[in-house]
Amino acid sequence: MAMNLVAGWSLLSALLVLGVQGEVPAGELSEIQNKTIQLVMEKFHQRDLSNGYRMTSVVKAVEELYVAGLFVNVEFLVKQTSCHKHHWTKPECQPTKNAKTYNCFGCFKFEHESHTVFSHVEECVLPRHLNQGRQARRNDLCKEVERRDNGKKSVGKYSFLRKE
Ligand SMILES: *[C@@H]1O[C@H](CO)[C@@H](O)[C@H](O)[C@H]1NC(C)=O
Repeated sequence: MAMNLVAGWSLLSALLVLGVQGEVPAGELSEIQNKTIQLVMEKFHQRDLSNGYRMTSVVKAVEELYVAGLFVNVEFLVKQTSCHKHHWTKPECQPTKNAKTYNCFGCFKFEHESHTVFSHVEECVLPRHLNQGRQARRNDLCKEVERRDNGKKSVGKYSFLRKE
């Protein structure tokens, strides 16, 4: 019995460790995770870009429920398309060959019912600029967002970490 429990836990930990990195299929994203990606991309397209970009893969999608609100952390890749940036949402805008790629990250905290954003941080950088220091800074900023509003973790905490 005890052995089974230990085996069960180590299997679970192995799965969770696997889940931290890797790809999340877009079809498995929740509505609020999609909204978060959308918000990060809207901000990105306010930059001085001439072309639109398209999300091509999701590296990470985490969602946690707090008493103070819903916390969402996403990391994904966007690729340059041949469309003008004003048309970036059009489905026909597909990435070009050898498209310029950015790694985007967003941490958002939403109010429960309204899903109004009350704290957020986001950034898109070239993958080669994503060094350890930058990664650490992202994590720090993200934790600040997660803790905002003195949110106590509720009993119904849940999170998604997946690998394809
Ligand atoms: C989120 O977006 C993806 C496409 O990027 C879609 O396949 C998925 O169904 C969406 N999820 C929800 C819950 O709308």
